[in-house]
Amino acid sequence: MSTTTTVMPKLTPPKIADQRMLIGGKWVAAASGKTFETHNPATGEVICRVAEGDKEDVDRAVKAARAALDGPWGRMNASGRGRLLNKLADAVEQHRDELAALETLDNGKPIADSLAADLPLTIQCYRYYAGWADKNHGQTIPIDGNYFCYTRHEPVGVVGQIIPWNFPLLMQAWKWGPALACGNAVVLKPAEQTPLTALRVAQLAQEAGFPDGVINVVPGYGPTAGAALSGHPDVDKIAFTGETSTGKVVMKAAADSNLKRVSLELGGKSPNVVFADADLDAAVEGAYFGLFFNQGQCCVAGSRLYAEEKVYDEFVAKMTAKAKARRVGDPFDPLTEQGPQVSQEQMERILGYIDTGNREGAKRLSGGGRVGDRGFFVEPTVFADVKDDMAIAREEIFGPVMSILKFKDADEVIARGNRTFYGLAAAVWTRDVKKAIRLSSALKAGTVWVNCYDVFDAAAPFGGFKMSGIGRELGQYALQLYTEVKTVIMAT
Ligand code: NAI
Ligand code: MG
Repeated sequence: MSTTTTVMPKLTPPKIADQRMLIGGKWVAAASGKTFETHNPATGEVICRVAEGDKEDVDRAVKAARAALDGPWGRMNASGRGRLLNKLADAVEQHRDELAALETLDNGKPIADSLAADLPLTIQCYRYYAGWADKNHGQTIPIDGNYFCYTRHEPVGVVGQIIPWNFPLLMQAWKWGPALACGNAVVLKPAEQTPLTALRVAQLAQEAGFPDGVINVVPGYGPTAGAALSGHPDVDKIAFTGETSTGKVVMKAAADSNLKRVSLELGGKSPNVVFADADLDAAVEGAYFGLFFNQGQCCVAGSRLYAEEKVYDEFVAKMTAKAKARRVGDPFDPLTEQGPQVSQEQMERILGYIDTGNREGAKRLSGGGRVGDRGFFVEPTVFADVKDDMAIAREEIFGPVMSILKFKDADEVIARGNRTFYGLAAAVWTRDVKKAIRLSSALKAGTVWVNCYDVFDAAAPFGGFKMSGIGRELGQYALQLYTEVKTVIMAT
């Protein structure tokens, strides 16, 4: 008989020096000399100051990226790009504990989650796209007449990438993996709340041997650095992840400048449908994870929980018990399940939604308030008897707040599930294969999980229907975002 125990390293909050930005292979201060603070959301304390990029810094970064494309990076063999991405994956793996601690410090997510989810998925993503670098090939096409016709898959060029604060390491990997595999040069703007791991991984990439200018990181705020990047006349493509309303601003800036290519991964209000014939305990467990994971700060959060009438009361009781038992606290405690929200602003926004839920007459069964008076912790909150037209059932809360709604049958829940301008994800819990197939076809969402939730893999495409986004990240599909197809026709 053998027993396996997972020993988790005891990680503590690291001390971090003030940070510069990476432009053209050099670590530099902002042109303006400005800096901003990044905070530890568990305490509200300042971690360090970070160079605050703006238009001039973005300009310099774009020039450096262009020069890299015209230089050794543009001439490198495709397999060479794959080797560099594999070296980056190795470096992230070797610095796994350090990066997990840094992510937990800057974002507030439990260290157990950083180690078990964010780091492995980040490493997997770099490795997966390392493999694609020399496999993104074109076609030879039998056109009419005496011609030789073929396609070349070329990099789009200089790519601007703007990422959010909920999964900083992972969003960087989703952006850099395919962009670099396809031979683009990147200018990344991390979220102002969580710039630290982006800067550390950029340093690791530099050590791994990426030529100067291939990777540039310009931290700063959205309306300044972010707007400069999305409106830049010499950026060929912008990739954005964040709020739907910000996605509109980014797309407009792209249109008004140079019609750069746009890919967007935006918000959601994902229906999670639990039928009476489901394995109820598995459904409760999956729904709990699908909403409360990462402090509820997930674009795919299963935030409209539809439970079938026959099992509604039992489901609500089980979910409430689980929410009440959730361990909220110090994110560096290996047993903590829920850390702080990322910022005071987000905490207040969530508490505002809880007030709205109370006022609209939803039945609050757990939580409802802040935890303590230091840091940005919110109690795991469950609302039952939620109606479709309540704000908590329509708007993205991005916090540990579950809305449970009752339904009668498949027809009804399909119609109600689709009555939203979002379409990011959905899930179905049932033992009936026909029902599973019917719902996964009928629900308008980029990802549908059946009897599971939040299953992610670098090989499986991800993105939104409707106002949840444009384009697909991950998998082979993401190569399209970072490739221009050139058709060559030669008379023979
Ligand atoms: P946001 O969309 O404003 O921020 C995401 C990124 O966009 C950040 O890097 C930010 O600096 C940048 N940005 C902001 N304004 C910009 C502009 N005008 N031009 C270019 N870039 C800009 O999201 P925020 O304000 O941090 O969070 C607000 C809400 O958005 C959350 O409560 C949540 O509902 C949603 N959100 C959704 C995310 C998702 O993964 N779908 C991620 C983060 C937030
Ligand atoms: Mg914003």
